[in-house]
Amino acid sequence: MTTTPLAGKVAIVTGAGRGLGRSMAHALVDAGASVSVASRTVSELDSFVDGVKAEGGQALACPTDITDESSVERMVEATVETFGRVDILVNNSGIVASTPLIDQSADEWDRVVATNLRGTFLATRAAGRHFVAQRSGKVVNIASNFALQGVANHGAYSASKAGVIAFTRSMAIEWARHDVQVNAIAPGYFATPLNADMREDPDSLARVVRAIPARRMGQPDELRPWLLLLAGSESSFMTGEVIVIDGGQSVR
Ligand SMILES: NC(=O)c1ccc[n+]([C@@H]2O[C@H](COP(=O)([O-])OP(=O)(O)OC[C@H]3O[C@@H](n4cnc5c(N)ncnc54)[C@H](OP(=O)(O)O)[C@@H]3O)[C@@H](O)[C@H]2O)c1
Repeated sequence: MTTTPLAGKVAIVTGAGRGLGRSMAHALVDAGASVSVASRTVSELDSFVDGVKAEGGQALACPTDITDESSVERMVEATVETFGRVDILVNNSGIVASTPLIDQSADEWDRVVATNLRGTFLATRAAGRHFVAQRSGKVVNIASNFALQGVANHGAYSASKAGVIAFTRSMAIEWARHDVQVNAIAPGYFATPLNADMREDPDSLARVVRAIPARRMGQPDELRPWLLLLAGSESSFMTGEVIVIDGGQSVR
């Protein structure tokens, strides 16, 4: 028997065209939610929506640049126009840069911080207006275990994700009295297009896997139970938390 604990709920997942975001958007659809998927690559959004509709689910493609204020406002407006409300926001859009700091351009630093941190702010503010007004809502921020440990050549990325965790805690306090929960998931290495180049190089892949106590990378579907916990009613008294899912990498 299939269960649909999120029936009647409306979710937005940013960066849902591929990788972790696409997997999490599928998890929300499978749990009964209507889901808006947002990113810049329209063909990926359309293929997601076509697949969901073919299975009888409800989904909306929202072409969005998460760094752009008006684009993010439109993402939330289009969701509310189409589905009548918004209940869940998954801030997942993200980019990584692996660059020694003395070679890093200010433009690259700004791009990483704008996508990972400013984007999380813009989407949380836009959806949060609805959450606070309706006195319910769930924000799930996708951080990284790189926020919790020092990682060479990832200053911008690690700082942006540490910012996401600090933002998660601040918003949890600010919105707790409105019955809006704000939590984060900090994944370790998961096999997605983000790290396809690394995985194609056997030496790089072996080095990464050696650093993970579980001796393997995660698969995107392994985030599903934690996402559904944070997006659903079971976590109604849980806020400001960070769930680390990294095969033990950051507890060394
Ligand atoms: N994979 C891992 O090992 C890992 C580990 C820790 C944390 N994470 C985090 O998990 C999240 C997803 O990562 P992933 O591995 O699934 O990456 P991915 O496969 O590269 O997908 C990233 C998604 O973000 C979207 N995105 C990037 N820039 C955007 C922008 N300006 N506006 C809107 N959307 C944008 C991309 O779509 P477009 O390019 O089409 O816009 C894409 O849909 C990221 O926040 C990442 O930092 C991943």
